[in-house]
This record gives sequence, structure tokens and C-alpha cells, in this order.
Amino acid sequence: MPTFSSPAMPRYVPLPLARALPLLAVALLAACRPAPTPPLGPEEQAAREFANVLPRDAPAARTTRTFELTAAPVTLPLLDGRSLAVWAYNGTVPGPTLRVRRGERLRVEFRNALPQPTTVHWHGVRLPNAMDGVPGVTQAPVPPGGTFVYEFVPKDAGTFWFHPHVRGSEQVERGLHGVLVVEDERPLPFDQDLVWVLDDWRLDASGAIDPAFNTRHDLAHDGRWGRDVTVNGRSDTRLFARPGARLRVRILNAANGRVFRLDLGGLPAQLLAVDGTYASRPISADGFELAPGNRVDLDVTIPANAGARSYAIGDRFVPRAPNALATVEVTSEPARPTPRFEVPRPRVPRWAGGLALPIRQTYRLDARVGGPFGIEWMFNGEAFRHEDASGHEHPTATLPLGAWSRLRFVNDSSRLHPIHLHGMFFRVIGRDGAFVDEPFLRDTALVHARETVDLAVVPLDEGRWMMHCHVLEHAEAGMMTLLDVVPPGQSPPAHRH
Ligand code: C2O
Ligand code: CU
Repeated sequence: MPTFSSPAMPRYVPLPLARALPLLAVALLAACRPAPTPPLGPEEQAAREFANVLPRDAPAARTTRTFELTAAPVTLPLLDGRSLAVWAYNGTVPGPTLRVRRGERLRVEFRNALPQPTTVHWHGVRLPNAMDGVPGVTQAPVPPGGTFVYEFVPKDAGTFWFHPHVRGSEQVERGLHGVLVVEDERPLPFDQDLVWVLDDWRLDASGAIDPAFNTRHDLAHDGRWGRDVTVNGRSDTRLFARPGARLRVRILNAANGRVFRLDLGGLPAQLLAVDGTYASRPISADGFELAPGNRVDLDVTIPANAGARSYAIGDRFVPRAPNALATVEVTSEPARPTPRFEVPRPRVPRWAGGLALPIRQTYRLDARVGGPFGIEWMFNGEAFRHEDASGHEHPTATLPLGAWSRLRFVNDSSRLHPIHLHGMFFRVIGRDGAFVDEPFLRDTALVHARETVDLAVVPLDEGRWMMHCHVLEHAEAGMMTLLDVVPPGQSPPAHRH
């Protein structure tokens, strides 16, 4: 019968190892002792606050959802129903809403049937840098008649959108934009889940899309603002809902320059998500400023006793010139109980001490006379151009991967600049030096006239990412730059010149 009281060291252990073992044991003991770890610096603590806020990696995808996407000129009934010659994805404006579920791979077989080169950029989506659709940086532009396959597994569920990144001020304005919905692994049981794309149109005397793009007037102001405001391409959008219904309304501002300030006309609605990801606590959606590029997801409950009334949804960004957007019509169906369920409330770091930490890079926003359109918009005195290798396409900041960075934007101009970062979410932590506590992340933040905005970011995806003003005329006239995200201690890849 075997006994277990044998000597601790079996006999077949070779002698040198036998001698080494006690030393190894001592070493291991030392390693296990509560080591005097150096205290975390404030920036490391700030980065740690971001741990697990967003998934670092894409989920392992079992299925692939394939879409064909073609950009082409087409004539459509838009606005009040009149026909309008536009450029469209798959023949509709807005383009198709592509829906995938988190954990699925998205494959988009894109074909360019436009008379201009183009690309497709996936606004707000954290994806591999090569799929980001930035001409001359992540891919060559797709020529007329050309094709390109975009394929990636979205890391985050939420409301995103896609649009060209070549001559955006013209191509997006002509109608090229669509929504990408990445549903949760288990979608929330709303009665309706729908998309509202806000846009505006400037028509010429003949009623066609005014072909004068990037005018001096637009550049000297907040880009191209059109008189005709639409929701899903129509000025007569109505949404029907029964009493007691609970709706998820995903709203995108696809306008070139116009900012919308939501007026929900008394409709009970909370902000569920901003720029894709969920808010950490419920806040009212009334008065939210939706700058170009921004999305909000509303959690709307139609009161059970609403009767057959309607709610007028509007925009009050310019108080003296409000716009009607859409109406929500409560049907005369009998009320059914409102679906009750918990919505995700992820942790969003507060970074309460963030304004005391060092600034990684300051960007001063301003314009000067010059450039191809007569006025150039600049970050720190430099105007960027996608198309001609003007020598300015070098990154203007390097952000260490997984580390906390603070960026500051000082608006030296009297215009609006919605600043958009590709490939990462950030939190606005300061406006004019005062701490801001928005309970959500963003990918686009409006910098008002003469304002200073501080944002904090922990980028989780390596690559060369664009940062630009989402007033597309400002971007076209130079207000773009590149940020490199590299592993800490590594230097960015060689600059292209
Ligand atoms: Cu909607 Cu470069 O962005
Ligand atoms: Cu701008």
C-alpha cells in the first residue's frame, strides 16, 4: 500500500535542480510577499477608472452579415414629395439602415457609381484602422466604377452611421449617409426601434440641390445651412404609436453644419445613449444639442392616458428661427401596459480631477484668408487637405494606447466647431475651465464660439485616426488632422510626406 509520507524530494530529481529548488522557493516567496508597489500616479488612476468601461477587443463572431452598398445618382421624392436629384446609397435618402447584432461580422461590398472618387467612413465605430475609410490615410479613394470591401466586427453596440470621407461637404450634402445599428446581443424589448435622420437642404432657384459648395459665405459661417429641414428626407414625418407604448428613437444629425436643439413638445423622453454607447444615468433629452455627426437614442414612453393627441417635435437651436421636425401621433388603439425592463447603465468615468492633470495637446481653432476656397480653417495654424499631398498630413499628437490623455480645444473664432475623433470615445470634462459631468461618452463634441473645451480619452485601438470639425465645409477647408495611437513607449510609424 503506498504511503504518502515519503520524503519531500523524490529521488529522481537531478542534483543541480535539487540544489536550485530551495533558491527557487525563496525567490517565489519573495515574489508573493505584498510587494511595495509604487503608488499609481493620477493619470494612471484616471486610466484605471476607464478599465472595463468599453470592451478592449471585438467579440468572436460566429456569423457574417453581408450587405451590398452602391453609391449612385438617383431622383427621389423628398422634402414635401417633390422629386429631387440626389446621390444615394442603394437608391434611398437616407441610405439603408444596416442592422447587425453585436457579435456579428459586418461585410459591406461597396460599389462606387458616382462621377467622383469616394470612400465609406463608419462614424463612431471602433474598428481596425484599415477599415476607417479615410482617403490617403487608411485606403486609396475608390474611383468611379471601383469597389471596396469593408469588413469588421463592431466592438460596441449602438447607433452609428456611415458617409463618404472624400469631398464630404458635397457628397454628404447630396444625400450620401446611412445609419448603422449595432444591436445589443439581446435587444431591449421596446415596442418600436426606429431611426430618425435629421438633415437640411439648400436648394437653388430651380428647386435643385444648390451646386455651389464650399462658398465663402459658408466658410465664413457655420458651414452650409439649408432652409428646408427634414426627418428621413421628408418634411412631413409622422410616427404613430399607441398609448402606453415604449419606443427607442435613434436620432442622427446628418446635416453639414446645422445644429439641432431638441424640443420634444412634452413627450416623455430620456436620453438612453449618446453617440452610440449608453448613458450612465437617465437625463432629460429636452434641450440636447445635436451637432453634425452626433446621435442620441431616446427612450420614449407614450402616456397611457394620452388619448388621440399628437406631440410636435422641433428644433430650437436658433431661438428666433425654430423648426418643426416631426409629429408623434398617438393612435386611438386601447392602451396596453408599458413594457418594463432595465436599460443598461454602464459606468462612465467622472475624471473629477481631470482638469488638474496635464494637457497632452492644445488645439487652437481659427481661420485665415487663403486656400482653394478663399478661407482656410485650421488646427494650430495648419490647414489639412486630403486630396493634394500638401505636406501637412502628419499627426499632430501621439496618444499612448490605453493611457489617459487630455486634449484642449481653444476656439479663437466666433464659429461653431463640432470636433469629431475617429476610432475612440471620449468624455467632455471641461468647458471654459469649469468641470463638466456629462454621464456619457461621445465621439463628437460641439465647441461653441470663443469657447474652450477639455476632453479626456483613453484610446483602446491602435492606428492613425482622423480628428476633424464635423462642419463639413470647415473640414474641407482644412480643419482636419491626424492622431496616432501607439502602445506606450513606442513611437508612431514614420510620417508620410
Ligand atoms: Cu462623420 Cu470623419 O466623420
Ligand atoms: Cu468647424
